[in-house]
Amino acid sequence: MPEKESPQKESTAPQSTLITGIGELVSNDAEQGAYAALTDAALVIAGGEVAWTGPASRAPAADAVVDAAGRAVLPGFADSHAHLVFAGERSAEFAARMAGRPYRAGGILVTVEATRAASDVVLRAKLRRLVAEMLRQGTTTFECKSGYGLTVPDEARGLALAAEVTPEVTYLGAHVVPPEFAGDPAGYVDLVCGPMLDACAPSARWVDVFCEDGAFGADEAAAVLAAGRAAGLGARVHANQLGPGPGVRVAAEAGAASADHCTFLTDADVDALASTPVVATLLPGAEFGTRQPFPDARRLLDAGVTVALATDCNPGSSFTSSMPFCIALAVREMRMTTEEAVWAATAGGARALRRTDIGHLGPGARADLIMLDAPSHAYLAYRPGVPQIAAVWQSGHLVDAALPAATLTEPSASGRRGE
Ligand code: NIG
Ligand code: FE
Repeated sequence: MPEKESPQKESTAPQSTLITGIGELVSNDAEQGAYAALTDAALVIAGGEVAWTGPASRAPAADAVVDAAGRAVLPGFADSHAHLVFAGERSAEFAARMAGRPYRAGGILVTVEATRAASDVVLRAKLRRLVAEMLRQGTTTFECKSGYGLTVPDEARGLALAAEVTPEVTYLGAHVVPPEFAGDPAGYVDLVCGPMLDACAPSARWVDVFCEDGAFGADEAAAVLAAGRAAGLGARVHANQLGPGPGVRVAAEAGAASADHCTFLTDADVDALASTPVVATLLPGAEFGTRQPFPDARRLLDAGVTVALATDCNPGSSFTSSMPFCIALAVREMRMTTEEAVWAATAGGARALRRTDIGHLGPGARADLIMLDAPSHAYLAYRPGVPQIAAVWQSGHLVDAALPAATLTEPSASGRRGE
């Protein structure tokens, strides 16, 4: 579905593109930090950024025109939590859980073994396949963690591969203690904070730790985050996923960008999230995949906590790459409104990644946007499981389109629309 150009233009890419006839434009006012939408709207892309938004009747001229024909346009999804560098699969583990066996984090080691054994070529191909899958579902920014290597070279390799596909790369050497350190967990934490960090920090922006019974305790987690910070990495924490614990507190004390999961929270945890800039990133795909209770999003939102939604895409607890699926779960199972869920999957994810250029569509934002084959954002939850992403733009480039080319209109005779 290439965008059509006015005949006088010689370059193959339009200098500016007007998307008009937008039934609902979710813009998420960046100043107020709130959900915001316009109806009967238009948007102009120029230089990879949003140059203008407003009523379709007042749209300025552009080199190319796309007629949305009443469809909704949203910021691209910002998936701030994903584990995409791995080999192998664990469908039998999932099936067993669905047959009544509880989730245990030990399954991670199954993936560690397969990942260590895989070649770079295989890991890269699997990673890129997931990235393409995400893009088709409207994810224009994603975070990617290591954590299935757990040796110095395997973690460094995972991060180097992740850095090929995203700037949001997270060092998760502290995922679990690998079998070769089973008798010496302190020795493994020393490795994670020392030589492994040295090898990994150059490829990473973030450091993460799985703070949970069976993984790492509060002191170990704090040590990992402090070492990461000293190496220039921002902090994120897998917190309070499988039961109550110190994860949220550790995240708040470390000044983490995000505490992820937040499934089992005390009132003190909620207060800590509400009184610090730590984003609570909820991962309903993990509760779906492990048949656990969903996190209480309403309690967090009502306390004033900033909430993000992300997929937690990984082969064990949440093998979905679909932000629309997570939005539908959040609305149906976590009592988020459709507006709150869409905000959390776009602007919330941006906050969790401390990004101001994405997650909204005001002038100056990166032109990362999706057009739904539907008139309203609500369809993401209203029609669960149905592919509804009609087109995806990343930095102003149309990178995926399911709409037939016939839905794009030619520029008017003057090469202009909206005049
Ligand atoms: O976020 N919590 C730890 N890590 C993943 C699970 C990874 C796995 O089971 O392979 C999570 O749910
Ligand atoms: Fe995770």
